[in-house]
Amino acid sequence: MPTQSRFRTFLAFPVGLLISMSGCANKPDTTPQGSQPRSTATGTPIVIGEYGSTTGLTSTFGLSTDHGIEMAVDAINASGGINGHPLKVDLKDDEGKPDEALSVVRLLISQDNVTAILGEVASKSSIAAAPECNSKMVPMISPSSTNVKVTQVGPYIFRACFIDPFQGTAAAKFVMNDLHLKNVAIMTDAANDYSTGLTSAFEKNYTILGGHIVLTQSYTAGDVDFKAQLLAIKAKNPDLLYVPGYYGDVGPMARQAREIGLTIPMMGGDGWDSPKLVEGAGGPGQALEGSYFTDHYAVSNPDPAGKKFVETYKLEYHEDPDALAAMGYDAVGVLADAIKRTGTPANGDFASKQYRSKLRDAIATTKNFQGVTGNITIGPDRNAIKPLVVLQIHGKDFNFVSRVNPD
Ligand code: PHE
Repeated sequence: MPTQSRFRTFLAFPVGLLISMSGCANKPDTTPQGSQPRSTATGTPIVIGEYGSTTGLTSTFGLSTDHGIEMAVDAINASGGINGHPLKVDLKDDEGKPDEALSVVRLLISQDNVTAILGEVASKSSIAAAPECNSKMVPMISPSSTNVKVTQVGPYIFRACFIDPFQGTAAAKFVMNDLHLKNVAIMTDAANDYSTGLTSAFEKNYTILGGHIVLTQSYTAGDVDFKAQLLAIKAKNPDLLYVPGYYGDVGPMARQAREIGLTIPMMGGDGWDSPKLVEGAGGPGQALEGSYFTDHYAVSNPDPAGKKFVETYKLEYHEDPDALAAMGYDAVGVLADAIKRTGTPANGDFASKQYRSKLRDAIATTKNFQGVTGNITIGPDRNAIKPLVVLQIHGKDFNFVSRVNPD
């Protein structure tokens, strides 16, 4: 059963409006902190469903995403909503469990009658819930699920991020062409679509580039002891360990690797991005110091929209926004832009079959939407076409190393 559900309309929003759907962009919100921001949105609210892991093994994924979503929605509402209609977010926690994701999405559709749905972060949960959205013809945008299968579910399923073949290829090229390392071992989470998908993309492309995968070992999310696999890997003498997993497992794994004397560099994907990653690896300057991962955006993004987002987020949440927060923010932006282009339905019903179908078409034609993670164009497969970044861990920071543009 769902453990948490929350409706939200207006929350305090501290500084300037980052994006505007009503034409009053960049007008500073002078509302004192802690009170309701002014809103000229007096129309009926447009209800957006959100599902994610705000508790459980990957809770920073759901929480950060929600912070980004909240910030974007508040900015839109404080600037008059979309054509006068405020957005209202209906968040449900799925605890990071795919079966729970499916049941909360069922509720969002059948009970709460939402216009569209944002979520999930983890590909496995998006894959579990997307068929429900698609068969009920409710547009779903995953902010950050990267496994190819997510959008293959059908025409109502979109994502605001790139896919794993792009991320895995970029990692393989980085290891071979930038680090000049030719022998890699892989630790894969065998029951996680994200991990296995990224493993195959890396393997295929690294081998094409002339690299050798000396050994692939597997683990299960939540394992506490990785030493048997790490010892087997050490015996093969690789130059680098590729771990396409989630932060909760990667930290302890890195610590144990160093404990058994496996001191080679490590590399991962976006699943590493969490304020808890470095802590799990023993703290700043410890087991993950100098390691690399591919990701959706860098906090040190020089782009002005990205910079403003980072500053505003820090004021509100007192920490750097991770990629999840930025992607949550951009997923709202893509959806709100499509809602605006769809226009207000004559009968005022933002959740009718006709309205959702028009909204679907509008999302599908998103072109060059300026997000805080870069420009987003939705391609023919309903995946976003956009660049990625390679980051390197220094202390608690994830530093920008390079950007890779889509072909
Ligand atoms: N891309 C991951 C997946 O598909 C989720 C994720 C995105 C995790 C961004 C961290 C940061 O499962």
